[in-house]
Amino acid sequence: MKILITGGAGFIGSHVVRLFLNKYPDYEIFNLDALTYAGNLENLKDIESKENYTFLKADINNIEEVEDLFEKYNFSKVIHLAAESHVDRSISDPLVFVKTNVIGTMNLMNAALKNWKGNFQDKLFYHISTDEVYGTLGETGLFTETTAYDPNSPYSASKASSDHFVRAYGETYGLPYVISNCSNNYGPNQFPEKLIPLFINNIVNNKSLPVYGDGKYTRDWLFVKDHAEAIDLAFHCGENNETYNIGGFNEWQNIDLIHLLCKIMDKKLDRNNGDSAKLITYVKDRPGHDKRYAIDAGKINKELGWKPSVTFEEGLEKTIDWYLNNKGWLKNVTNGAYKDYYQKQYKR
Ligand code: NAD
Ligand code: TYD
Repeated sequence: MKILITGGAGFIGSHVVRLFLNKYPDYEIFNLDALTYAGNLENLKDIESKENYTFLKADINNIEEVEDLFEKYNFSKVIHLAAESHVDRSISDPLVFVKTNVIGTMNLMNAALKNWKGNFQDKLFYHISTDEVYGTLGETGLFTETTAYDPNSPYSASKASSDHFVRAYGETYGLPYVISNCSNNYGPNQFPEKLIPLFINNIVNNKSLPVYGDGKYTRDWLFVKDHAEAIDLAFHCGENNETYNIGGFNEWQNIDLIHLLCKIMDKKLDRNNGDSAKLITYVKDRPGHDKRYAIDAGKINKELGWKPSVTFEEGLEKTIDWYLNNKGWLKNVTNGAYKDYYQKQYKR
């Protein structure tokens, strides 16, 4: 089986590539990635010399490039993770989100349709999406697969749009697809613009911890390796043209999560209990900030038998240990352009 994985040099993609390479030595894995600021081949150092692995530096916004690769390699299945993925960046530069997340996804599907020529036997377009497409929840309730889409940020609007196009391609052209919508991921290799790695890095460097608004926003957190396992299951056992919600059964208000993180960091860094929490600084809220996300992962649990394997405390500890043991990785990704981003986003 020749599988094209897009965005494999990013956070979640690198865990998916590693899982597939190690678990399925008979598959040929092609990792297509443009290596934007978020893509990093260091994430894949341990597996890059495997015989069944090929890295393809290419941009999904370039249709000729994508079509040429389909023609050259005849991929039979696609796992599509490449995207612009950070809400704050989508607020300052929305257009690139439309280009990569919407047009890029359509380019991939168009190239697949052209190459597969109506023969959909053993073909699959697996589109990785987010729970943010459902918008925001109040105090109660959970997102299910039938919750109406109601995106509030340019990021979630672009992901919602791409999900709609995938479904439309299924209905209109017969493209066999699976979509999964997952909650917030955390774990090793996540770029330090997202809450958890940003705050770990700032605590290490004694920098302030910018909490948006009142900090009482709720997210449902899932360890990235558990997401990769869910993708593996949905890819192999999911029904064509179905959607699966994936979540951690693990809701935290930001401020409670941040206090837990600070407490663990104090221990790991041999600081007095309470030292890291002194860095907490409330800052201006994010515009259009969704109050609460929470996933009902009952369908993938009942139909495919998936559930998370680690508790949040275990996952957080593994994550912190990884960042503390990989300070070189952190240093490399926070050089150069990151400094400009940080200055613009946080004015400090
Ligand atoms: P990421 O930002 O860490 O990685 C994205 C990858 O895509 C990078 O390697 C980047 O180089 C690549 N890429 C970007 N634009 C490209 C282009 N034009 N052509 C080719 N490659 C390009 O993202 P992530 O957090 O790993 O998210 C991966 C996918 O999972 C995304 O589709 C995202 O919407 C979805 N998702 C993420 C989360 C989360 O919490 N991070 C949760 C649910 C769903
Ligand atoms: P983030 O990791 O950006 O994920 P998402 O917006 O996709 O859920 O943010 C997680 C939560 O943390 C969200 O409610 C915004 C908040 N947040 C802060 O309070 N400060 C920050 O500097 C960042 C990046 C996020």
